[in-house]
Amino acid sequence: MFNQLTNCAVDSALKAGKILKEGFGTSFEIFNKIGKNNLVTEYDKRSESIIIENIKSVFPDHSFVAEESGNSGNIDNDSIKWVIDPLDGTVNFAHSLPIFSVSIAAVKNKEILCGVVYHPILDELFIAEKGTGSFLNDKPIKVSKSTELDSAFLVTGFPYNVNSNPCGCIDHFVSIIQRGIPVRRLGSAALDLAYVACGRFDGFWEINLHSWDVAAGVIIVQEAGGIVTQYNNEKYWLDNQTLIATNGKIHNQICNVLIKCGCGINFGRNQK
Ligand code: IPD
Ligand code: CA
Ligand code: CA
Repeated sequence: MFNQLTNCAVDSALKAGKILKEGFGTSFEIFNKIGKNNLVTEYDKRSESIIIENIKSVFPDHSFVAEESGNSGNIDNDSIKWVIDPLDGTVNFAHSLPIFSVSIAAVKNKEILCGVVYHPILDELFIAEKGTGSFLNDKPIKVSKSTELDSAFLVTGFPYNVNSNPCGCIDHFVSIIQRGIPVRRLGSAALDLAYVACGRFDGFWEINLHSWDVAAGVIIVQEAGGIVTQYNNEKYWLDNQTLIATNGKIHNQICNVLIKCGCGINFGRNQK
């Protein structure tokens, strides 16, 4: 049903998820990365190694951008690049909270070709391939039908330096919850996006995400009929600072609220 690229992403995510599931709740090494409360565990690294090894065995000429090992492989710009978050939700994983995922996407020339997000504890596998729609465990999924922001169910996240309120992200949050809208913070941006795609949430917003957090989730939302833009409603690409993903119907409304807090325009990616 899917092409070789997508099948390879699925196979790699399942293998990595098996390792994470085995490690979940056991005692393992936890290290601090740059930034407050930014953790990495030995399982982030083990998951990443198995994913890259698996993809390389099928596509030896492709390149990689992966959270823990950075850029590797073919430096030819025209090659397919795999964008990998081996464990999205590390803080949850480190605290034995079963909300985390593996996120793998293949990208070429500013186009996401396929994306897979896998929640190993629930055994939920989200898959999208350009032009074929999105699926959860083989069943087609669609975004929700809600049309009113004020009766929407939303999810968000915060960067590790939230204490310095980068880009006014705390003000964004306040501007939404002040309207009485229920908002969740799950701690895995890849799952946040996948859950918008299958209609569990009507929308998601966050700043300063990395390509590996969102590449797979973005195509899963888009192929499920949703919309992903920057806060100013302009086209989103993986190095942009702001991201809003919705069912499409509440999109303009949420953009308007976030833009009214004076954020999301003219912020450079390095201005954190
Ligand atoms: C984090 C999660 C979290 C988001 C952070 C990300 P990590 O990724 O996606 O939901 O709010 O911005 O950095 O560190 O668990 O891979
Ligand atoms: Ca991540
Ligand atoms: Ca990660």
